[in-house]
Amino acid sequence: MIYRSKALRLYPNQKMLGCLQLIASFAAFLFLVFHFHRRRYWRDLLFPDWPLIGMLPSFLKNLGQTYDYTTEVLQRKGGTGNFLGPWFTGMNYLVTCDPMNVHRIMSKNFANYIKGHDLREVLDAFGDSIFTVDSDAWKHYRALQHSVFKAKCFEKFREKIVREKVESCLIPLLDQVEKRGVELDLQDVFGRFNFDAVCSIVLGFDPKSLALDFQEVACIRAFDEVGECTFYRQTIPKSVWKLQRWLGIGPEKKMARACEVFDRFLYESIASKREKLPKINGNEKEADDLLACLMRGDEGKDEADDMLLRDTAFSLLFAGRDTITSALTWFFWLVATHPSVEAKIHEEIKEEKEVKDQVYLHAALCEGLRLYPPVPSVIRQTIKHDILPSGHEVSPSTMIMISLYAMGRCEEIWGKDCLEFKPERWISRRGGIVHMPSYKFSTFIAGPRTCLGKDLSFTQMKIMASAILCNYQVHVVEDHPISPTLSMVLQMSYGLKIRISKRH
Ligand code: HEM
Repeated sequence: MIYRSKALRLYPNQKMLGCLQLIASFAAFLFLVFHFHRRRYWRDLLFPDWPLIGMLPSFLKNLGQTYDYTTEVLQRKGGTGNFLGPWFTGMNYLVTCDPMNVHRIMSKNFANYIKGHDLREVLDAFGDSIFTVDSDAWKHYRALQHSVFKAKCFEKFREKIVREKVESCLIPLLDQVEKRGVELDLQDVFGRFNFDAVCSIVLGFDPKSLALDFQEVACIRAFDEVGECTFYRQTIPKSVWKLQRWLGIGPEKKMARACEVFDRFLYESIASKREKLPKINGNEKEADDLLACLMRGDEGKDEADDMLLRDTAFSLLFAGRDTITSALTWFFWLVATHPSVEAKIHEEIKEEKEVKDQVYLHAALCEGLRLYPPVPSVIRQTIKHDILPSGHEVSPSTMIMISLYAMGRCEEIWGKDCLEFKPERWISRRGGIVHMPSYKFSTFIAGPRTCLGKDLSFTQMKIMASAILCNYQVHVVEDHPISPTLSMVLQMSYGLKIRISKRH
């Protein structure tokens, strides 16, 4: 009796074990099929590809020096290779820094490479704006903003804003800092300056965030948080950040709070502009800020228009503030650590007062933008099958990452001394700026989607750099750590701590 009951108890266990063995063998079979299929489909792998976790270990191991490590690996692989994320996450990218591929993607076969739905979801804080849309909608925004950006009155207005802000705010603040002999985070100063300048240019008012007390400004904090969270979304599977958003936890909780803060800020600015605009138009002098220009060209005044203005304003504030801040911060670090370059810029500033004639300064800025592109990479998605000049085939919906950071350090483009800071490489024998095709110097990207703020940025950076370098010498605080952040815009992780002394 006892024996029988024992046998009865053993029987279902054995059956279950058999079942489990069958399932395990089937799973192992599927696992192998998937692994070999993935190996055959994706060639030219950038890093070792592990079952299930893909290339995550190499990515995490080199997290601290991701940009340099990827640049080095891309060089070894001839400029193009595949990055495969963990299985079933869809985080697979063809990564390239090959200028001919960039030429095809950005110009020659432009219509086949779009920003796409996935990127639009990640960038949802930007709403429907020039940065997120494709095809006809993009053409419409581009034409609208192009006409404003290229208008002579808008150009003069921007320059006036920057010059006034330098004279009335930046130089007096630096004078105080110099007198007190205290340390200063130059990245923070540029971030505040640019926020004020870009608000004046886009919204028509100065929030005056740049002041000696360096108080925390809620809106600046909110913009930073949106940048961080948006980047975070690009590094994890879509399902994970979407779940976090639904539950309102982790970075997504921060994102929601930040969106509320700047939405309030932007909608209040739009409402106040709508109120003031008819009065301004009644006077002879019209407002030249971007919001006013867009409102004037658009007579409808319903909620949808406000949303469009909010999306446009947000995108331009984001594009204008962080990129110039990044470019100037890296530029000043490079100049402060290369005294011979600093001396040459200073000589030129003393002789050439007009920014358009400051060739050496322009060359030094280009060189900084080459080594530290404010936007380190851009993403595109294919519509149809294509073969890139490097020989890589891309099927529909392939995600392509163009590493602008690696392009700026590519030996084939810049030569053996590509890692050195040498403004001279930009100066021609006749003393002008060497023309580099935009598919080789792609910091502002190439083709029809080229950055609309390129000229504006150079003018602003030259005005600011010459005002500072004409009056002060910049000294980086000893042992201050310098490393780039992992984010949409290449900032310095610990800021740029400096001291300044007055020039005699
Ligand atoms: C050093 C400064 C800057 C750099 C390096 C830079 C770089 C870039 C890059 C790489 C893109 C392409 C992004 C992509 O397609 O994924 C872009 C697009 C754009 N940038 Fe800039 N940018 C700078 C400053 C500015 C400023 C100051 C503004 C305006 C306030 C601006 C407005 C735009 C616009 C409107 C686009 C979208 C163009 C389009 O898609 O048609 N940028 N920029």
